[in-house]
Amino acid sequence: MPSAEPASPPAPAGVIPVAASRHSYAVHVGRGLLATLGALMRGLPQAGEGGRCALVTDDRVQALHAGAALESLRGAGFSPALLAVPAGEASKSLHRVEELCEGMAAAGLDRGSLVVALGGGVVGDLAGFAAAVFGRGIPVVQVPTTVMAQVDSSVGGKTGVNLRAGKNLVGAFHPPALVVADVETLRTLPPREWNEGWAEAAKHGVIADRALLNDLARLARSDDDAVAAMVARNVRIKASVVAADEFERAGRRELLNFGHTLGHALETAAGYGTFLHGEAVAVGMMAAARLSRRLAGLPVDDEAALEELLLRLGLPVRFPAGVSTDALIEAMRRDKKFRAGRLRFVLTPRLGEALVSDDVDEEAARAAIGELRAAPIE
Ligand SMILES: NC(=O)c1ccc[n+]([C@@H]2O[C@H](COP(=O)([O-])OP(=O)(O)OC[C@H]3O[C@@H](n4cnc5c(N)ncnc54)[C@H](O)[C@@H]3O)[C@@H](O)[C@H]2O)c1
Repeated sequence: MPSAEPASPPAPAGVIPVAASRHSYAVHVGRGLLATLGALMRGLPQAGEGGRCALVTDDRVQALHAGAALESLRGAGFSPALLAVPAGEASKSLHRVEELCEGMAAAGLDRGSLVVALGGGVVGDLAGFAAAVFGRGIPVVQVPTTVMAQVDSSVGGKTGVNLRAGKNLVGAFHPPALVVADVETLRTLPPREWNEGWAEAAKHGVIADRALLNDLARLARSDDDAVAAMVARNVRIKASVVAADEFERAGRRELLNFGHTLGHALETAAGYGTFLHGEAVAVGMMAAARLSRRLAGLPVDDEAALEELLLRLGLPVRFPAGVSTDALIEAMRRDKKFRAGRLRFVLTPRLGEALVSDDVDEEAARAAIGELRAAPIE
């Protein structure tokens, strides 16, 4: 009788250590790692004797991946309580924090328990913040399931929720005890969500690793090992930036804002939900590249190469006709980085390097937006 194909064993593309002031943690990246989640958590010094933990997720991810996570946790002796919130940015609210904390208390979690955040950046930020405040702080394990969360938001310790007055206005630095990024969970992402996540990877290439941009252009969705290697490479970049400036005081972590000033303005001016975050950041990166040409000497070929990559990733590169320059400038003015008519703006003098500039004023931003309406690069 022909024997069944043996299941391929979990393949970690890497275990990346991240240094944080209170504790260091490991980011595991690879294929099939969700099945090893419980065992990896058992190895944590924070795991303690009791097996109580909360598995926090959203309703979409719950239907796709919570079963495998619960099985792995139970198999390692944990008794997880499943707490799900509706999918979407609206769940990043204080109301959901209260609901989660009540749910954790009702499930018998105490100061020796853990929170597991299974999902994209919304679940990571929300569950991470709930963990930061429940019992004055219990450990959180991040299990990111979107490209964006794997290459970016699950690493670095920023957690928080939104207020009506703005995004991420309440939060805490609460570095995870562990990050488990299983690239096989990305298979269920719809194409648009898959594409948008790579905008943050392109950003990492622009600010720190020019060669990454070439490899990103060649990345095939069907090649899990290549995807895992690309995620691991991004985690290393984010980890090194965060280790150098954990609390965003030394000007280094600020470099991660490349493309985000006008990207956020576009997200706001177009109305939340019109553009996915990564899509807006892609347009914002093109505007930052145009400003970099004017103010930091970015070669025109570098600007064209960035545009070619973003197009290849299926991302937009132009401001849409329906969003006026005035509306974009108005949204930018409300940005916390905008002070006394000047912006602290991240520019790139050549792909692979970045600097923070105080030279970008409103007129320069207006000109860059105007040039990036429909025109080809020349
Ligand atoms: N903490 C940080 O450092 C940091 C950095 C960047 C962004 N963020 C935050 O991240 C959030 C955005 O995160 P996001 O882009 O991951 O969005 P998200 O968490 O809303 O996920 C996008 C959608 O994909 C679904 N989904 C998630 N994983 C899936 C999977 N494997 N298969 C199918 N569907 C899946 C979700 O249910 C959701 O509907 C924002 O709130 C942003 O502020 C935080």
